[in-house]
Amino acid sequence: MASLTQTPAWKALEAHREKMAAASMCALFDGHPGRFAHFSLALDDFLLDYSKNLVTAETMKLLFDLARQEDVEGWRDRMFSGGHINVSEDRAVLHTALRDRSGEAVVTGGADVMPGVRDVLGQMRAFSVAVRGGIWKGHTGEPVSDVVNIGIGGSDLGPAMACQALAPYHKPGLNVHFVSNVDGAHMAETLKALNPETTLFIVASKTFTTQETMSNAATARAWVADSLGEEAVARHFAALSANESAVADFGVETQNMFRLWDWVGGRFSLWSSIGLSIAVAAGAERFEEMLEGAYAMDRHFLEAPLESNMPAILALIGVWNCNFLGAQAHAVLPYDHNLRRLPAYLQQADMESNGKSVTRDGDPVDHHTGPVIFGAPGTNAQHTFFQLLHQGTRMISSDFIAAAESCNAGPERHAILLANFFAQTEALMLGKKDAHAPHKNFEGGRPTNSILFRKLDPRSLGMLIALYEHKIFVQGVIWRINSFDQWGVELGKRLAKEILPQLTAAQLTAEADVDNHDGSTNGLINHYKKLLGRGS
Ligand code: F6P
Repeated sequence: MASLTQTPAWKALEAHREKMAAASMCALFDGHPGRFAHFSLALDDFLLDYSKNLVTAETMKLLFDLARQEDVEGWRDRMFSGGHINVSEDRAVLHTALRDRSGEAVVTGGADVMPGVRDVLGQMRAFSVAVRGGIWKGHTGEPVSDVVNIGIGGSDLGPAMACQALAPYHKPGLNVHFVSNVDGAHMAETLKALNPETTLFIVASKTFTTQETMSNAATARAWVADSLGEEAVARHFAALSANESAVADFGVETQNMFRLWDWVGGRFSLWSSIGLSIAVAAGAERFEEMLEGAYAMDRHFLEAPLESNMPAILALIGVWNCNFLGAQAHAVLPYDHNLRRLPAYLQQADMESNGKSVTRDGDPVDHHTGPVIFGAPGTNAQHTFFQLLHQGTRMISSDFIAAAESCNAGPERHAILLANFFAQTEALMLGKKDAHAPHKNFEGGRPTNSILFRKLDPRSLGMLIALYEHKIFVQGVIWRINSFDQWGVELGKRLAKEILPQLTAAQLTAEADVDNHDGSTNGLINHYKKLLGRGS
């Protein structure tokens, strides 16, 4: 098979890029009064404006040709219908089944997954009602005041982001905390303000073997057992995992164990039992509204032709900017304080999915794959890295995201935020020439997408997250990579396991230097020993 860059659709885009070399976004707007309407797309009250990109109707046509050449629609259909598209792990990719509201079967490996999905959802509903209603009691008969989700990566970032986003829907007096870092300071800081009698821990780990999560769970378990006795553990822990035997070994009772399945990838798992903290914080109804929003985006992604398909268009604009116009990174800029954790969430969703350099068939790629994703909420980010977006030497594309209505502020106050939201994409596109003061010169022509919806609520949040999931999927298909494995995180984990015994007390007091690593790593470990006043 020809490599991607040798295919007709890719070559056509390369030739088109040469034609576009002299084009400017401003000139494209001048020459096409209907440009905004042509290059924007609405779904319910959700709008994607991609007109501030260096694209014409011909560019889009060639991008749709590329998507068809790479069989995006076929891969999409195989994903939704339970095909084993995660080839390196021989797994289906069915996070869409978790929010499937159709009542139809979703079959993989000859079995319908939906009865299990509905069972767990019912279990989550009952659990969150009990905790929120004070029916769930701790070992000493106290209701729960604080819930601590212990997890990392997809077992932390998704629920943490969504809980933050839905803060206006939280039950007053019920606090949800997230502990992820293996640095003991994270757990210690969190526990400082908590009372073991009223604290419930949710241990979220698909594998139930992740070092960080297991270390933090052990600390939490000891904290409960030391103050309330070993027999209290069962009333203060729930677990979300695909590894039932490890959960039982930890001491969690079966009814407080919430399943997930190998066809749910960690970074796509907030729709599963991993979202339990969201249901507890905001209520099961809100959690299900979030599922409904995601389902609406799923239907759109499945049914809309590529030419009016929001995730596909967002993905193709990204491919154009990254592979043809040389964008070196992509910024995610939510103009919404409650979405402040979205950039970190999307860093995992996007970079763990598409940070790959071999194709699904194991051949090296001959093109760039996923960009560096970074971001921060606006307007804070305007006072930090926006300088580089406006005047730096690197070309960086951005997504600006905002809600028309604020959950917390009145319209006049919210208008200040939105004025900045609108102004920044305008400034990035228009630029400003200043022949006399080069330091005040703005080149302009920096590509942006704007995503604008009515209000940040559970439904729009679900739509937004699903939009990005499918964008990432489409890009992975076009780049011919497997977006659903993450072998790149394994090597570091293995080496840390090998190094850990060398940092035990006995090794630290040993006179002999460590010498079985590369020179730098030996030097660092031996210096660490010296800093602790031990070793040679
Ligand atoms: O190390 C990466 C990773 O496997 C992520 O993909 C995942 O979200 C995270 O670790 C946590 O995994 P688990 O839920 O099994 O603890």
